[in-house]
Amino acid sequence: MVMMGAEEKRAALAALRAEAVRALAPLMTSDQTQVVFGAGDPASPLALVGEAPGPREDREGVPFVGPSGELLTRVLEALGLDRQQLWITNVVKVWPTRRQGRSRRTRPPNAAERHASRPFFEREMAIVRPRAIVLLGGTAAQEVVGRRLKVSEARGQWFETPFGAPALVTFHPSYIRRLQGMDPARGAQALAAFRNDLRRAAQRAGLLDEE
Ligand code: URA
Repeated sequence: MVMMGAEEKRAALAALRAEAVRALAPLMTSDQTQVVFGAGDPASPLALVGEAPGPREDREGVPFVGPSGELLTRVLEALGLDRQQLWITNVVKVWPTRRQGRSRRTRPPNAAERHASRPFFEREMAIVRPRAIVLLGGTAAQEVVGRRLKVSEARGQWFETPFGAPALVTFHPSYIRRLQGMDPARGAQALAAFRNDLRRAAQRAGLLDEE
């Protein structure tokens, strides 16, 4: 295996992104602005993997900058981590939309979007080669672990992955936000579990000291 430095990784990821822009063009409609690739430090020992970009991510071209991303960023900061220290990405690289009247809504990514994004996600992970991975929600867990997992059961557990690093399954931040709106006590519990999962993963990656 060839070890790459941060600058080489950045260059390899920029080339991969350009390739993805061409290859994923058939998925783009007038709804999408751009392909949303990973962001942060490509030499980070910790990668966070979500499902697919939403409307803010589509506009800005950066994963997790909408409401879910704000929750994620706050939790990272509470742990003493800056999101720029991590590699943050999604398994699907384009915003999955459906039309409702004149507005565009986010829907779960379909098989075609997952399938087309898959080789780019795999190659992205092979370049970044983190020491530990966090899987945010069921879609990321299924894509990376290779089978359908119930997040309610798998949360907090480590799984082997094809990327040479173990992955910890946790809640998707949008699930926590929904729960906070519906049932504040359960929302607070889920948030505490999420924070704990991120701490454990950062410790395993060597970004935070063990307590
Ligand atoms: N949800 C995701 O899974 N990824 C994002 O980038 C934003 C919201």
